[in-house]
Amino acid sequence: GVDSLMRIPMSVLKQHNKRDDAWSAFNGKVYNITSYIPYHPGGEKELLRVAGRDGSKLFALTHAWVNLDYMLDACLVGFLVPDS
Ligand code: HEM
Repeated sequence: GVDSLMRIPMSVLKQHNKRDDAWSAFNGKVYNITSYIPYHPGGEKELLRVAGRDGSKLFALTHAWVNLDYMLDACLVGFLVPDS
């Protein structure tokens, strides 16, 4: 449930930037995209560009019509917050 979700500072998001440990933020939500990488229709390379980063802009540019909230619901880790 929502109570178990974390507040994730940008500095923590940045650490998860590897093929086998990839998190990415979209519209304020942080997802663990690791297990989705092989299934991305646009390819692994494109998706890995946003590993450890805020991917909102690239996502909106490539396919704003894709329902990411629905697709990656099970991969939601928490909410992106600024570093204090
Ligand atoms: C295609 C999902 C992130 C680039 C697609 C498609 C889906 C998808 C469902 C097929 C769309 C369609 O055919 O209408 C996702 C999800 C993402 C993500 C869930 C986040 C976790 C990204 C990012 C980029 C990207 C960050 C760019 C850096 C592309 C491209 C295609 C594509 C270029 C088109 C591939 C083609 O038609 O040949 N993605 N995507 N995606 N995606 Fe993503």
